[in-house]
Amino acid sequence: MSRLDGKTAVVSGAARGLGRAFAEALAGAGTHVIAFDIASNMPAVASEIAAATGGRVDGVVADVSQRADCERIVAHAVAAGGGIDVLVNNAGVWRETPVDSDWETALADWDYIMDTNLKGVLMLSRAAIPHMKGRVNANLVNISTYYVLPARSGGTNPPRTDLYAASKWALNGFTDAWAGHLAAHGVRVNALAMGAVDTPMLRNLFADGQLPPDLAAGVMPSSAIAGLLLDLIAEGPSGRTGENIGAWVGSPVELPPRKVPHERITGINIRIEH
Ligand SMILES: NC(=O)c1ccc[n+]([C@@H]2O[C@H](COP(=O)([O-])OP(=O)(O)OC[C@H]3O[C@@H](n4cnc5c(N)ncnc54)[C@H](O)[C@@H]3O)[C@@H](O)[C@H]2O)c1
Repeated sequence: MSRLDGKTAVVSGAARGLGRAFAEALAGAGTHVIAFDIASNMPAVASEIAAATGGRVDGVVADVSQRADCERIVAHAVAAGGGIDVLVNNAGVWRETPVDSDWETALADWDYIMDTNLKGVLMLSRAAIPHMKGRVNANLVNISTYYVLPARSGGTNPPRTDLYAASKWALNGFTDAWAGHLAAHGVRVNALAMGAVDTPMLRNLFADGQLPPDLAAGVMPSSAIAGLLLDLIAEGPSGRTGENIGAWVGSPVELPPRKVPHERITGINIRIEH
């Protein structure tokens, strides 16, 4: 594993699940991690990660859906490291959103999901990007889902979670557009788009938090996805940008070959024949 000593990272939603695993991996590699979460136990979790990894982790309670909180987190990171080398837009929420729900429910669901999964990504990134430009091997990583790679995943966008799916499809626009804009500034922008990972979000879908046996047998550990993040960063300044990087239950979790431009987001080779 390549070391990331002297680097500064921001991870949203880091009190549990994938965010915690990203913070652990980055801290273990030597990065000073600013780990934040809306959950009040974030400082305690940060202390646990620091003790376990021997790394430096600042745990801050903050809500990514609030602009002032995003700016406070970025100011904290810049004070700590002079800039930001890694931004992991991980914080996300899931809720079942029936298409036939009443209007009030639908609009409340929209705000709940989009404020964190999409507006939060926009605001935290807008605050961070000026402090990422010009850093050596800066990486902005959006945490997406395999839903956005339907060619490989069989077109699965569960019909009763349309807003969650839509929030992740919208990340495609950010990943693609920001990768193009930031290439000239040395900032790579990619997304991790994975299937089922063993986290509280997944376990909360099942009664008493128990995964069904078939899922339990194949579910990916969050540490494997965190390893993918480190591999992505380790590609260095000339590494890939603008890609959705998939990870599927039942397949090795590893960086795929770099994709040609028209395959970066969709994962499929779409050629328009004239
Ligand atoms: N678990 C999976 O199978 C899976 C698969 C694909 C994608 N994802 C994505 O991975 C990311 C992490 O998911 P997870 O499974 O670890 O979820 P999780 O619910 O276990 O953890 C999410 C963390 O984000 C925090 N959070 C929620 N709203 C926040 C806000 N407004 N501000 C700051 N923190 C906030 C929560 O408090 C929690 O600690 C999400 O974006 C999710 O959509 C998860």
